[in-house]
Amino acid sequence: MSIYVTGATGELGGLVIQNLFKQVPANQITAIVRNVEKASHLADLGIEVRHGDYNDPESLQKAFVGADKLLFISSPDSDDTLRIVQHANVVKAARDAGVKHIAYTGYAFAEESHIPLAQVHLATEHAILTTNIPYTFLRNSLYTDVFVNPDLNVSIEHGALVTNTGKGTLNTVTRADLAAAAAAVLTGQGHENKTYTLVSDTVWSFDELARLISKASGKNVVHQAVSFEEEKNILLGAGLPESVAMLIAGIYQAVSEGETAQTSTDLRMLIGSPTPLEETVKQLLQI
Ligand SMILES: NC(=O)c1ccc[n+]([C@@H]2O[C@H](COP(=O)([O-])OP(=O)(O)OC[C@H]3O[C@@H](n4cnc5c(N)ncnc54)[C@H](OP(=O)(O)O)[C@@H]3O)[C@@H](O)[C@H]2O)c1
Repeated sequence: MSIYVTGATGELGGLVIQNLFKQVPANQITAIVRNVEKASHLADLGIEVRHGDYNDPESLQKAFVGADKLLFISSPDSDDTLRIVQHANVVKAARDAGVKHIAYTGYAFAEESHIPLAQVHLATEHAILTTNIPYTFLRNSLYTDVFVNPDLNVSIEHGALVTNTGKGTLNTVTRADLAAAAAAVLTGQGHENKTYTLVSDTVWSFDELARLISKASGKNVVHQAVSFEEEKNILLGAGLPESVAMLIAGIYQAVSEGETAQTSTDLRMLIGSPTPLEETVKQLLQI
């Protein structure tokens, strides 16, 4: 059984490879990367490293030869229109190289979402469906790590977590849990032609996150709700590029409108209990 992973030098791909490495022999794993030098640590483990660039269809087709299972990790490019082109390159190359099963990391809330990136994931799923390759759609939640990371130290310092999420709730999962779920699908059986909504079975709000941070840090932190425009201007003022400020404020807006509150038990079926938010907060603050 040969398992190929794209985006293997990225955060999610790296965690998937770590999981696979514990479960299957290294010579069954192939890492597809755009920068081979960046993957020397994987080659050192006995994992085959192949060059494949989402912008270079020929490199992808060569890289995918021999894949029983391909984990296609979505591109991080901020240009969503370009991402659809990159993803179509990956899908066509997988078809032409004879990949036998493709697992794709999509977006859990895509069908209800108004944010443009959701369309990338739906378009990619549709592209995969044109190939007749058996698929598994891993519709990933928002990463908990996007919201609970060292940037929270600034909020702790200022005593305020500022967002335009209002009273909205969101469902997040750690990258580590999503990587474990992907590895479970790649090493397991019976996942062909399934769509998994990889979200937690509980949701949280920024009011609750502020409470958990206060409890864990011993400092009083409140959630300060602002408007979309105010949030965007705060992010621009902090030096973020316009596209990133729009993306973050856009995701917060989606949260405020209830787009990200869906729950499911698919993740629990694959990996057991997802990591609770409080646990991630404690890990961050090393408590
Ligand atoms: N659910 C969420 O909350 C959330 C949040 C952020 C992103 N995402 C999506 O989930 C994906 C995985 O997340 P992540 O945290 O692992 O992102 P990441 O750390 O940025 O990793 C992205 C990977 O894609 C590779 N890549 C970039 N451009 C490429 C190209 N032209 N051809 C081939 N490979 C290319 C990167 O290679 P290099 O190492 O060479 O840069 C890296 O290995 C992201 O790419 C994005 O689509 C989801």
